[in-house]
Amino acid sequence: MITVNTKPCEGQKPGTSGLRKKVKVFQQTPYLENFVQSVFDSIGDFQGKTLVVGGDGRFFNDQAIQIILNMASANGFARVLVGKDGILSTPAASCIIRKYKAFGGLILSASHNPAGPDEDFGIKYNIGNGGPAPEKITDAIYECTQTIQSYKTMTSSHNVDLTDIGTSSIGDMRIEVIDSVADYADLMESLFDFDAIRQLLASDFRMCFDAMHAVTGPYAKVILQDMLGASGDSVMNATPLSDFGGGHPDPNLTYAKDLVAIMYGDDAPDFGAASDGDGDRNMILGKHFFVTPSDSLALLAANAHCIPAYQSGISGIARSMPTSGAADRVAQSLGLDCYETPTGWKFFGNLMDADKVTLCGEESFGTGSNHVREKDGLWAVLFWLNILAVRKQSVESIVTEHWQKFGRNYYSRHDYEGVATDAAEQVLQNVRDQFETLTASTLANRQVQSCDDFSYTDPIDQSVSQNQGVRVLFEDGSRIIFRLSGTGTQGATIRLYLESFEGDVEKQGMDAQDALADLIAAAHDISKLGDLTDMDKPTVIT
Ligand code: G1P
Ligand code: ZN
Repeated sequence: MITVNTKPCEGQKPGTSGLRKKVKVFQQTPYLENFVQSVFDSIGDFQGKTLVVGGDGRFFNDQAIQIILNMASANGFARVLVGKDGILSTPAASCIIRKYKAFGGLILSASHNPAGPDEDFGIKYNIGNGGPAPEKITDAIYECTQTIQSYKTMTSSHNVDLTDIGTSSIGDMRIEVIDSVADYADLMESLFDFDAIRQLLASDFRMCFDAMHAVTGPYAKVILQDMLGASGDSVMNATPLSDFGGGHPDPNLTYAKDLVAIMYGDDAPDFGAASDGDGDRNMILGKHFFVTPSDSLALLAANAHCIPAYQSGISGIARSMPTSGAADRVAQSLGLDCYETPTGWKFFGNLMDADKVTLCGEESFGTGSNHVREKDGLWAVLFWLNILAVRKQSVESIVTEHWQKFGRNYYSRHDYEGVATDAAEQVLQNVRDQFETLTASTLANRQVQSCDDFSYTDPIDQSVSQNQGVRVLFEDGSRIIFRLSGTGTQGATIRLYLESFEGDVEKQGMDAQDALADLIAAAHDISKLGDLTDMDKPTVIT
């Protein structure tokens, strides 16, 4: 073991989900080393314990893992579990941390951000419950990166073969290369009615899953095809590539265009789904029909009784603040609590650990449950397939029936990417400056009830998170929300979230952009977003 002198690197503050930077930045020694040592210095006593390591297979995944393995040994871990070829989807990593009672895990991913030598890389630390480290720990990691003076690694650097399942060692530390899929697949089989899904897939029902050349390919092939009998052409773009095929593996209507073309085409299958770079996001489509992630969460909750694992009831629901209130209405009808948390999966961890909630979701194509402590793309796909197998209706009829019963929350998110940071801050400040005048005024033909900067006190550990989004809340339940992204690697991204509620069945068939047009106009008016960004339309609309 050697101690290498170092000095702090710029820009090591973890964002919404870990540290994300250009590959070129991570490649500059000691950028990664400093961050990994700062993690090890912030997480408590792990001597003799197990660490889980894996990533989404993007460019630099392999090299990063070798650096981490050498440092983990030098720092005193007794054992590391690594996915074969360095591959672990984010939910699979969470599953493995929990199943093998590891001390924690390092997950290498920049989620849906593009990959390749000139694109993005990322790393985050997950704690022993399998979930992203809470702010207390990420803040401590950041503090360490600011003062770090040395890191520990092995005297001569070892290169571990990750291509075969098996055991090896570096110094006193044992390395177990494990099957990336098996433990996760077992967990899925324990939650869902695989027989019912198998029958559905053996009928004339057709599905298409798009792995977007990212990590879910091998998982989808084993679970959907080998275990559940889906046809050979049911999984597309199934081979993970280190540059994700040059694409942007974000499962939304803009970036998953191949799948969208199929699902809106003449011979569309009954069900379509996609997942992102690291496998934690999901998009759900029916024939010529898109299910918003907010509606999807509400629907999963309303239909949880169809699923073996949730048959006896769920304990509660949590959604991120910008996610629509559709799930709240289901929670209310089931007599359950619904929690509203800041953006980012880490805020759900405490609620799940305390069994206050079973299902969680975010408008950003994230849904999951207490089976792991990450959102889970394939889990959501299997949940939907299980519902479809039980209800024997189309996706569209299940969703429209849901709206008839609970009302429809029209919802959209407009992203303005690559904005100058000053301009982005000013957009939010413009709205903040009008909090007083807006309150109780009329805007978009509605009465404004209140305006605030969303802040959250964790009900379990009482930690407070401030400035989590600028909100204009209306008396009729409509909302306009502005937030700055915490996951981008270049410039700032403004997210504008819009929501209105429609209880009248006759008016539930509108296009969401039309239904929200007056709120969109009002949002531009109060923020001066167009002038400040010089953009006349959003980069992405979902
Ligand atoms: C985005 C999403 C957020 C999600 C995160 C990680 O963060 O909005 O819901 O948890 O990615 O997948 P943002 O860029 O908005 O900070
Ligand atoms: Zn992701």
